[in-house]
Amino acid sequence: MYCLHMSDLDLTGKRVMMREDLNVPVDGGRVTSDARIRAAVPSIREALAQGAAGVLLLSHLGRPKEGKFEEEHSLAPVAVRLSELLGQPVRLVRDWLDGVQVGAGEVVLCENVRFNPGENANDEALSRRMALLCDVFVMDAFGTAHRAQASTEGVARFAPEACAGPLLVREVMTLRDALEEPKRPMLAIVGGSKVSTKLAVLESLLQKCDELIVGGGIANTFIAATGHNVGKSLFEPDLVPEARRLIRLAHERGGNIPIPKDLLVAKSFTADAPATVRRLDEVRDDEMILDIGPLTAADYADIIWGAGTVIWNGPVGVFEFPAFIHGTQAVAEAIANAKCFSIAGGGDTLAAIDQFGVAEGIDYVSTGGGAFLEYVEGKTLPAVKVLEERAKSG
Ligand code: 3PG
Ligand code: MG
Repeated sequence: MYCLHMSDLDLTGKRVMMREDLNVPVDGGRVTSDARIRAAVPSIREALAQGAAGVLLLSHLGRPKEGKFEEEHSLAPVAVRLSELLGQPVRLVRDWLDGVQVGAGEVVLCENVRFNPGENANDEALSRRMALLCDVFVMDAFGTAHRAQASTEGVARFAPEACAGPLLVREVMTLRDALEEPKRPMLAIVGGSKVSTKLAVLESLLQKCDELIVGGGIANTFIAATGHNVGKSLFEPDLVPEARRLIRLAHERGGNIPIPKDLLVAKSFTADAPATVRRLDEVRDDEMILDIGPLTAADYADIIWGAGTVIWNGPVGVFEFPAFIHGTQAVAEAIANAKCFSIAGGGDTLAAIDQFGVAEGIDYVSTGGGAFLEYVEGKTLPAVKVLEERAKSG
């Protein structure tokens, strides 16, 4: 990353505004997975340790309608969890655009940036207003670095100084190294519901990886592409030709996209639906595929054990339902126990890592979902690009 890093700057006495990605799942007013908050804590501490006069934190939560406050999208639960993790009070400020008094050593969280009209459209006037509130803008939200919005990109143009925060730097460097000089064989595991939303990333991963495992609804489209019945399963008939092309592409490059040997199916998409094991060629018309079967789980674990590098994004089954956790659990445990260098990212993936208690075994857990995939795809992240442009222009 050819841009200023926070560690290059003298923050003594400066008003620091830091963009984090504290977009975490909230249920009943409580944060249910605090991985992103935990990841931001060291950066906030570092800014204070570098002498910042105080830290004004920015984040979004969910996708609220701009222009008005909504309890449902308030960062209040995040402020509570963050203050527990930081070990100091974190004040949440609802109306902050006209300025906030931040005491020495204080951390203040500004209410959801996406309540402000113009945030999503990267409005210049809004970006300039934010820039007035600080001496240094620190972009640290890797998870939102693929969005060119006022609090990620716009403000970085107009702040007196702008730099990359420690988390953003670590995320980008780790991914860059892993993708540029991977230990081989390199395996990618990509789950999710639709091939259409992940076509570009699948294609670019095929150029880099030796093997690609697909999971979830994506796998169903590949199963259909190899001529098997998927019953009532979620799949995309329109993308069957694309799936066939990707399978051919993998073969041409000496790689492979394995098709499951067996599957877990159910007659309905419900949490208490009982699971039945089916061989690949035995799925019935009234059944839907909700997980891989035990033989396939063992096959995938074998592939993982043989890999030098594993990139994991997305579960292989509907692990929210107790009867269909096994495939994702087997994959998670194999990744955690294997010798490979492992990188995981994405909201569902982080939830699975938490649920199966395998975080310790994963070498790098990215806070990015969409940003992680866009980086892997080789796209430039606009919030990084603006920092690099500023560094170039001096
Ligand atoms: C994410 O959860 O992927 C990031 O926080 C970005 O959120 P967004 O997709 O709503 O921009
Ligand atoms: Mg998202």
